[in-house]
Amino acid sequence: MQKLVVLTGAGISAESGIRTFRDSGGLWEGYDVNQVATPEGFVANPALVLNFYNERRRQLSEVVPNEAHRLLAQLEKRYNVVIITQNVDDLHERAGSHHIIHLHGELLKSRGVDDPETTYPCLGDIHLGDKSPTGAQLRPHIVWFGEEVPMLDKAIEEVYTADILMVIGTSLQVYPAAGLMGYAKEGTPIFYIDPNPSLHSEGSLTVIAQKASVGVAKAIQLMNP
Ligand code: OAD
Repeated sequence: MQKLVVLTGAGISAESGIRTFRDSGGLWEGYDVNQVATPEGFVANPALVLNFYNERRRQLSEVVPNEAHRLLAQLEKRYNVVIITQNVDDLHERAGSHHIIHLHGELLKSRGVDDPETTYPCLGDIHLGDKSPTGAQLRPHIVWFGEEVPMLDKAIEEVYTADILMVIGTSLQVYPAAGLMGYAKEGTPIFYIDPNPSLHSEGSLTVIAQKASVGVAKAIQLMNP
């Protein structure tokens, strides 16, 4: 089977009702990214940061995967699919995809502030004073701005060995994730699906300016003419 690597961003979860970050009405309009998504912000006001992610986690229990997540899961019948997601939700998992790399962490995991590698399942809120088994304050398992992206090397390897690449619902503004496309071998067909795309079609890059559900269906058609 050919290897299909899919890079997803907040846009793929928009039709499930999760707000993106940088669209009009996006999360970064109402919150200061430096306050809620950096290690410095957590030191300055841990309760604010914990509450921000507690809210995100509660919302996650109210939404379900959409057609785009489902179509990607179904593609496993025809391709060796690897999903590299910048999203911290679990909608790819719930749609039935099996090979998922979470570049920016996962809302449903926590970890102690002393150890970035050991994570714990986290279905409810995290409060100030909640401790890991080693006695450290718990924090969400989220890769904040300024922190290392532990899954990056694995993601680069997957993109480099892709036969086809699909990029869905990302503004391509946050590095290193935004640079991953650059690791595809020259000539690899790339489908970029976004209603407000930041690239134009050229060479092996096909831009589909549609929302994820429609755009993924269109890309599948183009992959199997
Ligand atoms: P952004 O909010 O930057 O971009 C969302 C993209 O989704 C935009 O390009 C929109 O045009 C597109 N979009 C909106 N609705 C869509 C739909 N229905 N279908 C498809 N696409 C749609 O989100 P990301 O690029 O994912 O990191 O942001 C990257 C990172 O920045 C996030 O992982 C997060 C954020 O700060 C951290 O918090 C560490």
